[in-house]
Amino acid sequence: MRIPQATIQQILSSVNIVDVVSQYVPLRVKGKNHWGVCPFHSEKTPSFSVSEDKQIFHCFGCHAGGNVYKFLMDYKKISYVEAVQELAQLLGIHISYEDQTDQKEISELEELYELNEEVIKLYNTELYESTAGKTAFDYLLNRGLKQATLRAFQIGYAPANRMFLSDFFGANSRKASLALKIGLLGKNDQGRVYDRFSGRIIFPIFSTNGRVVAFAGRIIEKSEYAGKYVNSPESSIYSKGKILYGLSHGKDDIRKTGNAIVVEGYLDLISLYQNGIKNVIAVSGTALTEGQAMLLSRYTKDVTLLFDADEAGVKASMRNVDVLLRQGMNIRVASLPSGEDPDSFIQKNTPADFLHLINQAQNFLEFQTIYYDKKGDLRDPLKSADIIRELLRPVALLDDPLKQSRLLSSLAERFKLSQQLLEDELYKIQRKNQDLYKPAVEPPKSRVQSETPASKAPSAQRMKFERFILKALLEGEFEIVGFIKKNIELSEIEDSQNKKIIEIFYSLHDQELDVTPGAVVDLLQDQNLLEYFTGLAIEPYTVSEEWEKQYPSLERNLRLQQMVLDIVKRFKISRIQEELKQLQHSLGTETSPEKQSVLLGEYKELRDTIKIIESKYKTIDNEEIEE
Ligand code: CTP
Ligand code: MN
Repeated sequence: MRIPQATIQQILSSVNIVDVVSQYVPLRVKGKNHWGVCPFHSEKTPSFSVSEDKQIFHCFGCHAGGNVYKFLMDYKKISYVEAVQELAQLLGIHISYEDQTDQKEISELEELYELNEEVIKLYNTELYESTAGKTAFDYLLNRGLKQATLRAFQIGYAPANRMFLSDFFGANSRKASLALKIGLLGKNDQGRVYDRFSGRIIFPIFSTNGRVVAFAGRIIEKSEYAGKYVNSPESSIYSKGKILYGLSHGKDDIRKTGNAIVVEGYLDLISLYQNGIKNVIAVSGTALTEGQAMLLSRYTKDVTLLFDADEAGVKASMRNVDVLLRQGMNIRVASLPSGEDPDSFIQKNTPADFLHLINQAQNFLEFQTIYYDKKGDLRDPLKSADIIRELLRPVALLDDPLKQSRLLSSLAERFKLSQQLLEDELYKIQRKNQDLYKPAVEPPKSRVQSETPASKAPSAQRMKFERFILKALLEGEFEIVGFIKKNIELSEIEDSQNKKIIEIFYSLHDQELDVTPGAVVDLLQDQNLLEYFTGLAIEPYTVSEEWEKQYPSLERNLRLQQMVLDIVKRFKISRIQEELKQLQHSLGTETSPEKQSVLLGEYKELRDTIKIIESKYKTIDNEEIEE
């Protein structure tokens, strides 16, 4: 990458996160960690903690977390490279860039953001100050929007002159070529450049952090010849599947209320916001993507779908259900009076009326059932079989078997069907889904897995061990990481998040690099993973302390080694015990004597393996840990 990894690491090992953070957030020591009021969400009592040992921060309120770079990026809204540069300067560390082209790419992104900022300012000015903009401005006021609201969403107006931007920037300027790249400008068949948004009301689209990444332009007068909206295409700064309109403005309220209201249109969201209802996101007329659902699930697990009370609106609700369920979200559906959309409803009613409507939201299954019921399809025996299958499909996506069986029994009751029948049907759907969502690369299967295809998630016991191993790695000791790496293969780790983290520890160790949590965290790309990691790392409980009680006489490193030995041993044995349990079960049901004796042989073999493990991983008094 552009800045040598070694420099990035050098900075991490020289800087103290506590010093950096406390420049911006007042911190107080309590226990092992430093605490302050979280700068990333609004709160009164401090749940933001910084660990000096681990060189990371984590907020117990909003789950934000990371190392010192991440802190600077989020706090100052700067890029990774800028954060590294800032610290390098602070510490007097010289950066010799490895690859100039990459550095160029980064600065081009910055240029694009800046271009968007500049353009939206132009469009704002047009809305408030130009004569043509006055029509747009009046239109918006007529629709009940206040100027403060327009400002809050930086709504603008793109002049009708199709040469406005290229005249402003100069047709052959660098800015014009960038504007072409991100679809502010278009090129017609004759190769002439024109403003794509001209004559429209402009809604800037914000990233979660509030940067303008794209635009949507709404027509003012209905026209047969022009679409209602013109939207920015995907670009290097705008990935549609990962942006949610309104999250930039509503994320705090979403966290606070624990619920996200999902509406269809920009104007629905803006109108609600104006009326104090801010825990809203807009899907912008398309189905939610997996990435958007994942993004939302970082802020809340509860969503209320609120769509226009027409057929199209209901269809839209339904197609969003699956993708949300797959992220483990609880979904409710609120219905508007017919003919209304959220915008028109809030204009005619009070916020309290609106909240009442939200509180009346139905569980999605109920909602779907009633919908089909109303359509009369349920009385048609041919159609009803299809509908039941349709109703079961989302149930199959649930992770929680308890919830599933409750839903099944309510369906069984409603349709006067046997629960068994529904269960069989559900099972069929689940099998199909499994094929559909199989990861591209399958993890190596252990024997236990292959015998029980139904078990996907690691058992609680296994999870406990895996986390224990993570905890040991988090002590940040090079030798300990080496020992664990030598004894536990990645394929033995079942939970995918744990596996990814452990993989990073191993690879840093392979390269003989720093293995402290602050360094590992730097390589975690995925936001969920980052939050999980920092949460785990900052827990007040550390394994080294636990073991201090157990082996008070040993010095820290020996104690850690002893502890890891114990964990590795117990981890390996617990795996085998799981297999033994499976075998026992198979023995009980197997009728063929030949197969029984094969199983018995395996059983004995496993018992022997346990004995071998027990003698191999004895206490370190007897056996030295190399490496
Ligand atoms: N949309 C779009 N392109 C269209 C129509 C709609 O991108 N041609 C998206 C927009 O994000 C829009 C949403 O779908 O906000 C909902 O559409 P609609 O309800 O028609 O538009 P509103 O923004 O609600 O505008 P209005 O209330 O003025 O009809
Ligand atoms: Mn609308």
